Amino acid sequence: MIYLDHAATTPLRGEVRDAWLEAQGVGNASSVHGAGQRARRVLEEARERIATSLGCQPIEVVLTSGGTESVNLALKGLWSSRGPQRDTIVLPDGEHHASLDAASWLVAREGARVRSVALDRVGRIPEDAFREALDSSTALATALVAANETGTINDAPALSRAAAEAGVPLHLDAVAAAGHLAIEFSAWRGPAVAGAGLVALSISGHKLGAPVGTGALIVSRHAAPDPLLHGGGQQRGLRAGTQDVAGAVALATALELADAERQTENARLEELRSRFLATLGARLPEAVVLGDPDSHLPGTIHLHLPGAEGESLLFLLDQRGISVSTGSACQAGVAEPSHVVMALGYSAEAARQVLRISMGRTTSEADMHRLGEALVDDYSRLTHR
Ligand SMILES: Cc1ncc(COP(=O)(O)O)c(C=O)c1O
Repeated sequence: MIYLDHAATTPLRGEVRDAWLEAQGVGNASSVHGAGQRARRVLEEARERIATSLGCQPIEVVLTSGGTESVNLALKGLWSSRGPQRDTIVLPDGEHHASLDAASWLVAREGARVRSVALDRVGRIPEDAFREALDSSTALATALVAANETGTINDAPALSRAAAEAGVPLHLDAVAAAGHLAIEFSAWRGPAVAGAGLVALSISGHKLGAPVGTGALIVSRHAAPDPLLHGGGQQRGLRAGTQDVAGAVALATALELADAERQTENARLEELRSRFLATLGARLPEAVVLGDPDSHLPGTIHLHLPGAEGESLLFLLDQRGISVSTGSACQAGVAEPSHVVMALGYSAEAARQVLRISMGRTTSEADMHRLGEALVDDYSRLTHR
């Protein structure tokens, strides 16, 4: 099998699995007996390692079950602790459904208003437009550090500065970025302004070689979103519930491995990407590469393939044992046109003719060669060219 859907989930790394299993011990980290205290030590060590990797303080690491929970805690928690007269959520087009749907829920149930920010043609959030959307009625803003479909990278420090200057709390969704990009929470946040600027950042373990069910929301010491879960008061009261000690160790291990390998791995993926695109460009000149040519995740290739349904291509490639994605959500088994591609200015029809290829640590040159051959062949079959 050739697995080219690392943006959906990555294989569990061997080193991470070993560390994870080794940390599966007895003891609730909140118990006072020796076993509990041992678990607490392992947990807090892991939290420190996660904090070091993400450039924040250990106390700012709130462990969650993954990206969706982190995003929901950030958006709903910041909404419910918002200042007076603040009723608007600034939501760029093309955000992940975790943010879109959490915001829609706040609109339907809480009377929130959404102010959207249009993306540019390469899927970037324009800083000026983002800045203009923020004002004294803004309860919170959210933005992707890197887009999960196009791979386009936004200027996280600039967006953070804009939010700080406008006095607005900002959540960054770094789920697609973490691992590939160095996350520098405190540096991006800049000088602390209580409750404003970058206050929360989401990551998910299964996107970087850790198990599904691990993740974190980084919550600034200077912010106090309301919790979604109430109970034992763990993690500053922000996320009650017995903490997953082994999951924290796995997440810390995966982040450290990604940090150590980032430079060489990103260069390797970038090389595979440009070779693949050069060959594809010569053989399939109709294919359009979406996203920012200058600033993108090295492993992500998002293609518009005119005249061919992405879903049909996905099916044909799958029959050859090649796993790729259209990138967009599948609702009740029916592929939705990608809202991200439409946000780039494409029609709903064109937004169905896309394929996302996402490479990762296990991807080889041979995999990309086989994909290229298969894609040219399957595209020709579908379009009768
Ligand atoms: C940008 C982004 N945010 C949030 C999520 C949700 O993360 P999880 O699958 O860990 O719930 C994803 C997953 O695809 C994502 O790509």
